[in-house]
Amino acid sequence: MMQGKHIVIGITGSIAAYKAATLVRLFVKAGAEVRVIMTPAAKEFISPLTLATLSQAPVISEFFDKADGQWHSHVDLGLWADAFIIAPASASTIAKCSYGVADNMLITSYLSTRAKVYIAPAMDLDMFAHPTTQENLQRLQERGCIIISPQEGFLASKLIGKGRMEEPEEIFRRVSESLSGEKRLLGKRVIVTSGPTHEKIDPVRFVGNYSSGKMGTALAQALHEEGAEVIFITGPASVMPSDKEVSQLIKVTSALEMEAAVRSCFDAETDATIFCAAVADYRVASPEGDKVKRERKEVWNLELIANPDIAAGIGAIKQSHQKMIGFALETEEGTSYALDKMKRKNLDAIILNSMAHEGAGFGVDTNKVSVLEADGKRHDLPLMSKTDVAKEIVRILF
Ligand code: PMT
Repeated sequence: MMQGKHIVIGITGSIAAYKAATLVRLFVKAGAEVRVIMTPAAKEFISPLTLATLSQAPVISEFFDKADGQWHSHVDLGLWADAFIIAPASASTIAKCSYGVADNMLITSYLSTRAKVYIAPAMDLDMFAHPTTQENLQRLQERGCIIISPQEGFLASKLIGKGRMEEPEEIFRRVSESLSGEKRLLGKRVIVTSGPTHEKIDPVRFVGNYSSGKMGTALAQALHEEGAEVIFITGPASVMPSDKEVSQLIKVTSALEMEAAVRSCFDAETDATIFCAAVADYRVASPEGDKVKRERKEVWNLELIANPDIAAGIGAIKQSHQKMIGFALETEEGTSYALDKMKRKNLDAIILNSMAHEGAGFGVDTNKVSVLEADGKRHDLPLMSKTDVAKEIVRILF
């Protein structure tokens, strides 16, 4: 599947540079054409000759080849690449990529590439955890680079292990998976609930919330990209997927309607259900048939009654092969509330997002979530676009 693919591997000055040799070998063995670019510091750690031998091509490091006077274009390799990998990526190179400091061949090629960029950081733990490095990684990720690191979410506050480089076999797997365009979820059927629900007060008023449908839509799109058949059940949201991205788009208004829709779609063929909707917990006990006039009431007390818990209802009847994923929207950190919800609703995982974080939750294009799995695993993701959050959720849980 790598046959004929053009892979650029950039190597920087890190003790992990020796692992790049294995990475080059894995791609060559899989049939890819590999070109290696080394930073000057990388040559202190591994010999260009080794890499030239393994890649079966000259290694490029300088703009100008002193031996034969040849000028190496600083953009050619960037444009040639189908995938551009920097492994190991030192703190210095990460900072240069982040700020566009084009003072060596690797950075100029990085700045000119149109290929997907994969960055495998490798450095001392304190350097990795430093806010500057973390901010630089976050900037690169926001620009579409894929950070491949054994540290989940690479957040300094949650570091597990060291700032070590991911193993070459794992880097190879991640890059080839994304290059092959292989659709991992072909044949899987997933129900996604999204948006708010509106609970009627009278014909012109409702009780609702601020959900825009952006997070649910991003999930539907991420699942669709991986080949899943998506049944999308949405409340009155401003954002929803196109007809092409889902196999069914069911529009509902209230929590009771959403519950009926989920129950009618959920059956033994359902592989997973993601409850991303912000379902109103209460509805108006007796909605008025006619518009209530201002003159009629000086004080208007509404009686609210609890809506059914849709996720808990499905959680109670699901079979072991069916994955259930919920969301928890909290106004504070909220881990214990989220874990409690996961247990009560019999979910396999819950995505915790908090209104306490800027750029997270309702309405915005970004989110900052923690993925909590029933087996105790926890993945803290940095602030990212909802599109990238959705891709990460799909990558981690499917
Ligand atoms: O739509 P956006 O503007 O992009 O915003 C996205 C979001 C903030 C709405 C989304 O990321 C999110 O957090 N959705 C769940 C919000 C919520 O209702 O959380 P909760 O903690 O109240 O509910 C917990 C879980 O139970 C959720 O999976 C919810 O869908 C489900 N639930 C809740 C109540 C109910 N009656 N039935 C349910 O199924």
